[in-house]
Amino acid sequence: MIISVVNEKGGSGKTTIAINLAFKLANEGVDVMLIDADPQKSVEVVLDYRVNNGLDLPFNSVSKTGDSLAMEAKSLANKYDSIIIDTGGRDSKEMRQALLVSDIVLIPTIITSGFDQAVLVKMLNLLAETSIINTKLKALIINNRASTNPMLQTKNMKYMDFLKEIELPDNIKLAKTILYEREIYKNVVFDGRSVIEIEGENKAKNEISSLYDELVEFVRN
Ligand SMILES: Nc1ncnc2c1ncn2[C@@H]1O[C@H](COP(=O)(O)OP(=O)(O)O)[C@@H](O)[C@H]1O
Ligand SMILES: [Mg+2]
Repeated sequence: MIISVVNEKGGSGKTTIAINLAFKLANEGVDVMLIDADPQKSVEVVLDYRVNNGLDLPFNSVSKTGDSLAMEAKSLANKYDSIIIDTGGRDSKEMRQALLVSDIVLIPTIITSGFDQAVLVKMLNLLAETSIINTKLKALIINNRASTNPMLQTKNMKYMDFLKEIELPDNIKLAKTILYEREIYKNVVFDGRSVIEIEGENKAKNEISSLYDELVEFVRN
């Protein structure tokens, strides 16, 4: 299965979600290959921190940019249970190639940002076009970096209504799991770790687990 994390908007959480999901899947016994298709190589940055920290890597990872990404991803999909592709923050060759070969597309969005909303509408149009060729394509919009401030949570919910008005096609849905703005998502980067590796109870860890469960369910149905 090929899962790609896309959004032309930078800073929406693509790399954060790609990496944490790779760790989560590996932890569930899935043989994962994480492809860094962003020329800025953010995945590589995190994994370098990890190696320098003396920690092992529970999945494989490779950097791949340019015209052969789709072919490479398809070929790797025969060797691994799951391929995760992290793409860059713009409408790139890599992003379009990833969309063409993906089973699932994850679109992290900061739903309370007007800029993110505008880009999301553009992304949905692009997905509609891509779905004509890639008929198996499913997409999950993820409300990321939501405020934990109770006053702003109501505002957040209002923004989610904006999506209801759009009337999403059957293959695209808004994830029930919300990833909140939590310092821990940023802090673990410096150790090259995932939030799922944190000992004991942790809200971010629960969010990633919940997202994983939702993803599994979405793939099945
Ligand atoms: N849920 C979150 N809570 C707090 N910080 C987050 C969250 N998601 C992402 N970030 C931070 O926001 C920044 C942008 O995230 P990143 O995953 O690099 O986005 P993208 O890959 O889409 O450009 C990073 O510093 C990252 O650590
Ligand atoms: Mg990134």
